[in-house]
Amino acid sequence: MKNVSFRRHDLVLGEPFNKFDLILCRNVMIYFNQSLQNEVLKKFHESLFKYGYLAIGSKESLIWCDYANRFIVVNTEEKIYKKIKD
Ligand SMILES: C[S@@+](CC[C@H](N)C(=O)[O-])C[C@H]1O[C@@H](n2cnc3c(N)ncnc32)[C@H](O)[C@@H]1O
Repeated sequence: MKNVSFRRHDLVLGEPFNKFDLILCRNVMIYFNQSLQNEVLKKFHESLFKYGYLAIGSKESLIWCDYANRFIVVNTEEKIYKKIKD
């Protein structure tokens, strides 16, 4: 546990604060309107290393987001995406 840091972070109001290999954010974006989903996906993109992974909820999709073309789907059922473009 010493390598794990817990923080409160508001996805909408907060700014990206680190770079990650993996972001798990399941069943959260579904509550945001399209404009907020775009903003949040931009922040996730900025917070991921190139070739990092983003997992969202099974009922969610990036398909309508402006930054969707910077990711590929690696697992359709599990909604796991990989950042492929900076
Ligand atoms: C339906 S729950 C999903 C919880 C969990 N990820 C899961 O799949 O069981 C939605 C979560 O989104 C969080 N949430 C809503 N708006 C948020 C925001 N602006 N920033 C960070 N988290 C937010 C809520 O606190 C809540 O925990």
